[in-house]
Amino acid sequence: MSVVPSFGNGKVTVPGILERKSAVSTQNSLPAKITCLTAYDYPTARLLDEAGVDVLLVGDSLGMVVLGYENTLPVTLDEMLHHTRAVRRGTRRALLVADMPYGSYHDEPREAVRHAIRFVKEAGAEAVKIEGGERRMDLIARLVEAEIPVMGHIGLTPQSVNTLGGFRVQGKTEEAGERVLRDARAVEAAGAFAIVLESIPRELAAQITAELRIPTIGIGAGPDCDGQILVIHDLLGMSFGHKPKFARQYAQVGEMISRAAAEYCRDVQHGSFPSDDESFHLSAEQRASSSGSRR
Ligand code: KIV
Repeated sequence: MSVVPSFGNGKVTVPGILERKSAVSTQNSLPAKITCLTAYDYPTARLLDEAGVDVLLVGDSLGMVVLGYENTLPVTLDEMLHHTRAVRRGTRRALLVADMPYGSYHDEPREAVRHAIRFVKEAGAEAVKIEGGERRMDLIARLVEAEIPVMGHIGLTPQSVNTLGGFRVQGKTEEAGERVLRDARAVEAAGAFAIVLESIPRELAAQITAELRIPTIGIGAGPDCDGQILVIHDLLGMSFGHKPKFARQYAQVGEMISRAAAEYCRDVQHGSFPSDDESFHLSAEQRASSSGSRR
């Protein structure tokens, strides 16, 4: 499959996402709320794309839910590129956004642009996401100048875990709320096409959503955002450790996998797998001649 997305036939695009900001849902029209989920591999991307999810994010949460790291900081550019290519092969309709990992945009802006271009050229991403508000304005503008659509990400930015002192709700005091608001304005002014609001009070997210012209995508930011995103492993019940209160679980796939694997082990040990029907056979003549030759 080509890494170049084909447009038309309901393909979700960056201008299409921007238009959703002003669209109003009615019972007879397409829903205006933007649906986003993370994906890290081909089969998941295919299933989510075919289910009608608007935006697939190859999030650097990959590090925690797939690679088993404690946080997102160790995730490398090569790991992100590898997984973005896999998701590209499974995605036709959804907009494909790739997270730029920690360290890939924190030094020289020229290097950051070069890294972002690799996501587009080598992995088929249609946009990149970077964390941070006011301090990322210049970089967002440079990426947009290089024809790379940017999704911003403010509030709780997991790549700042050491600076923030943990994964904590942001913007709870008046001063902190003002800071988050300034970050949101800066990301929009720099040219981002959408912005993730992570773990901030519902009221603050509603205020930002009402003020910005670009769509807000919430995660732990209440229902008033223009769209929502969840980590797919949280939604499917396949993640370990702390479960944030906003991460509604829609299935227990982890339990299904454990049960299936335990059943398989039992069947192998009892000799009931594989059965004769699940085995290949010689033809009747071959069986006859081989038993004849053994006599
Ligand atoms: O890495 C990620 O999955 C994210 C989303 C949770 C927004 O940044």
